[in-house]
Amino acid sequence: MAPSVADKTTASENGVTEKIVSLKANLTAKNGPSYPFYLPYFDVNEKFPPTEIFEFTDPGSRADPKKPNLLGPNTITKDVTPYLGTEITGVQISQLSKEGLDELALFTAERKVLLFRDQDFKDLSPDRQIEIARHFGPIQRHPTSGNVKGYPEFHVVYRDAEYDVFREYFGGDRINQTSWHSDVSYEKQTPGTTFFFILDQPDNGGDTLFLSQVEAYNRLSPEFKKRLEGLRAVHSAVPQADFSRTRGGPVRREPIETEHPVVRQHPVTGEKALYVNQGFTKRIVGFKVEESEYLLKFLFDHISKGSDFQVRATYTPGTVVVWDNRVTAHSAVGDFDKRLRRHAVRLTPQAEIPIPA
Ligand SMILES: [Fe+2]
Repeated sequence: MAPSVADKTTASENGVTEKIVSLKANLTAKNGPSYPFYLPYFDVNEKFPPTEIFEFTDPGSRADPKKPNLLGPNTITKDVTPYLGTEITGVQISQLSKEGLDELALFTAERKVLLFRDQDFKDLSPDRQIEIARHFGPIQRHPTSGNVKGYPEFHVVYRDAEYDVFREYFGGDRINQTSWHSDVSYEKQTPGTTFFFILDQPDNGGDTLFLSQVEAYNRLSPEFKKRLEGLRAVHSAVPQADFSRTRGGPVRREPIETEHPVVRQHPVTGEKALYVNQGFTKRIVGFKVEESEYLLKFLFDHISKGSDFQVRATYTPGTVVVWDNRVTAHSAVGDFDKRLRRHAVRLTPQAEIPIPA
């Protein structure tokens, strides 16, 4: 696919775009990205209307629990940890029927994170990639992150020696860059089955940490669970929008704040999961400031320390990671050599309004 041409019309008014213009100008065929079509695109003039509420039925609710259309005779699955994460080889997501995609939704809900190896997904057309992801819900168009010109459904993750939003976002004075979150949890209908396909990856490092919010909930005492159920928390898009504005980036949709249950129930598996995350959850509704900070600090510490309900997703060429954002949290791992490139794309179908446990 041909590299997209830098848009000079927005360069002078947009600090982020200027960086991308210079990034694209400096890339050569020899050391450039393998998939320049997916370089992050920012247009400060791109605007989206507020997200509307839609009817949602989880595809997993239609799935055959035996998953005959997903797990064929040549498919090998290996659970990476007991609570979450399964590596799958011998199946192409691109070849799955509608029934196979339904089963993929169910399997993702059950195992939380699936690592599909050796996929041709990255070489499909953008329209086909979007069509597959849309099976799982309308795709969220990110208000601030890099997307692809003409394809706002793509959320681009890109870092190389010259371009490092990650470092900017977390600042230079952090001991580590671990940042647990569930994607765009400020949306009224939060993401469900989520796709992430790698385009360029370092030989090692640049993994993604995932944790099971179901097991995080299960570890709590019955008395503590009782206290949490019925509580609601505010998830805010404001800091993300402020960060983008500060660096001259787009705010394509006005930031919102949304209340969600602190414990939500998965619509298909019925599992209960904690639904708070350090990235977006700001306060407990009805609590005074200190009470809210105290409870959230406990919950954030609890999930971040739970190495026995976490898994590390690794990337090899062709890896597609699929996870259920409703019952997991994740964090990037910024451990690889600053001179190396990591390039990936997320497709983020939205699901139901969270169901209180
Ligand atoms: Fe994320």
